[in-house]
Amino acid sequence: MSDRKVALITGANKGIGFHVARKLGATGVHVLIGSRDRERGEAAVATLRSEGITADVVVLDVTKADVIASAVEQVKAKPGRLDILVNNAGIAPGNAPPSKVTVDEMRAAYETNVFGVVAVTNAFLPLLRLSPTPRIVNVSSGLGSLTMMNDPASRWYALNGAAYPTSKSALDALTIQYAKELRDTPFKVNVICPGYRATDLAGPGVNASRGASDPAGAADIVLKMALLGPDGPTGQFFDSAGAVNPW
Ligand SMILES: NC(=O)c1ccc[n+]([C@@H]2O[C@H](COP(=O)([O-])OP(=O)(O)OC[C@H]3O[C@@H](n4cnc5c(N)ncnc54)[C@H](OP(=O)(O)O)[C@@H]3O)[C@@H](O)[C@H]2O)c1
Repeated sequence: MSDRKVALITGANKGIGFHVARKLGATGVHVLIGSRDRERGEAAVATLRSEGITADVVVLDVTKADVIASAVEQVKAKPGRLDILVNNAGIAPGNAPPSKVTVDEMRAAYETNVFGVVAVTNAFLPLLRLSPTPRIVNVSSGLGSLTMMNDPASRWYALNGAAYPTSKSALDALTIQYAKELRDTPFKVNVICPGYRATDLAGPGVNASRGASDPAGAADIVLKMALLGPDGPTGQFFDSAGAVNPW
């Protein structure tokens, strides 16, 4: 087993997750590209390897228990360690307000954005516990902030969606609870908002002209949390400007 740190990023075949993998890989971390589709994952791995990055694909649908269990066995066998888990995979199924949302839309958002994070985190905790510096970074959104969604001065106030924002609120709360449970260990568990980024999740035609930035920039805040030293924070929320309070 090499001394090189290993990071698993869920939903890393494209979007923000891919850029996190690229930037973490460029620091010398061995990156595992979580992808629910093997071919899309392999294409991402091929790109990263062509840039000199050590990368492998891990087939991982965060909503499927059997697939998660196989992913754990794969990582256990090779590379045999895990130091960083980035729970990045996410979906945004529509923006219906509470009175219009369907329970199916709510379930879909929570399956991936909340239950998927719990399932993947708990499955990989035994491997992370073997690391001297285990780090978990949850990718949330300012839209999940109870403060921002209730503040008319916030840019997120206007979005009155039920499914996606509340799923990210639940993810924020879970981050606090994991950090508390792991507070007497070397773990650091934090949650970040990547900012508004031009990706498939943000929607077709969402680009700089509509206020969305390059997804590559989102990786910097994730890297900061993934590579925290022993005195770094835990159970906190960060965006590109630093710690966000209240959240
Ligand atoms: N873009 C923004 O403005 C923004 C703002 C705030 C927060 N975020 C958060 O950033 C994260 C990444 O989003 P993005 O903008 O980069 O979106 P994206 O380009 O659509 O990428 C989403 C990734 O998640 C994967 N995914 C979706 N469901 C999955 C599942 N069940 N199992 C495994 N992987 C799954 C997708 O895989 P497939 O390719 O197979 O679909 C894809 O790799 C999300 O958590 C999102 O909520 C984004």
